[in-house]
Amino acid sequence: MKTWLALLLIALALPAWADRFSVPKHAAFDEECASCHLAYPPQLLDAVSWRALMENLPRHFGVDASLDDNRRLAITDFLTRHAGRGGSTTSSGKPLLRITETPWFRREHDEIAAPTWQRTAIKSPANCAACHTQAASGDFRERNIHIPKRGTP
Ligand code: HEC
Ligand code: HEC
Repeated sequence: MKTWLALLLIALALPAWADRFSVPKHAAFDEECASCHLAYPPQLLDAVSWRALMENLPRHFGVDASLDDNRRLAITDFLTRHAGRGGSTTSSGKPLLRITETPWFRREHDEIAAPTWQRTAIKSPANCAACHTQAASGDFRERNIHIPKRGTP
C-alpha cells in the first residue's frame, strides 16, 4: 500500500489525532449541551460512548441533565452521526463516558502535571477552553493553547 494511503487510513481511523474539528451545527445540542460546559465536538468520543452517556442523563457526572425523549433521541442521533471511531472503552469493556479518560486524551496531555489541572482558572481537565482558547470553534491547535497561571500552587 502506498504510504500516503496508509497515513490517510490511520488519520480516518483516529480522528482524535487531529487538532481541528469542524463544529457541526445542531440547535438542540447547542441549547442543551453547551450551557454548563463547552459543546464538546462529537468527533471526540465514539458512538458507543455517546449512546451510553445519553442514556444516563439524569446522573450526568453528579448533575441532572435530563431531557425529554424527543430531544434526547435527536441529540443522540446527531452525536452518533458525527462520532469518532474506535476504542473508547475501559479495560473491562465498558464505554468510556469522558473524553478526558480516552487514551488519546491522556497521551496528548501527559506533559501536564497533576497540580496544573487544579489551578483555579482550570479546575478540571474537562474545562478545555481554559487552555484551548479557540475550543469553541473546534480549534485545538498548539498555537492557540495558553495555560493559565492563576491559582498556581
Ligand atoms: C446541568 C449542567 C450540564 C448539562 C446541561 C450537560 N452537562 Fe455534560 N457535564 C456536566 C458536568 C458537571 C460535567 C463534569 C465536568 C468535570 O468533570 O469537570 C460534565 C461532563 C461531560 C462530559 C465529559 C467531559 C470529560 O471529562 O471528558 C461530556 C462528554 C458531556 N458532559 C457531554 C454532555 C452532553 C452531550 C450534554 C447534552 C445532552 C451535556 N453534557 C449537558 C454538566 C452538564
Ligand atoms: C491545562 C490546559 C489544558 C486543558 C484543560 C485541555 N488541554 Fe488539550 N492540550 C493542552 C496541551 C498543553 C496540549 C499539548 C500541545 C502539544 O504538545 O502539541 C494539548 C493537546 C490537545 C490536543 C492535540 C492538539 C494537537 O496539536 O495535536 C487536542 C485535540 C486537545 N488537547 C483537546 C482537548 C480537549 C477536548 C480538552 C477538554 C476535554 C482539553 N484538550 C483540555 C492543554 C490543555
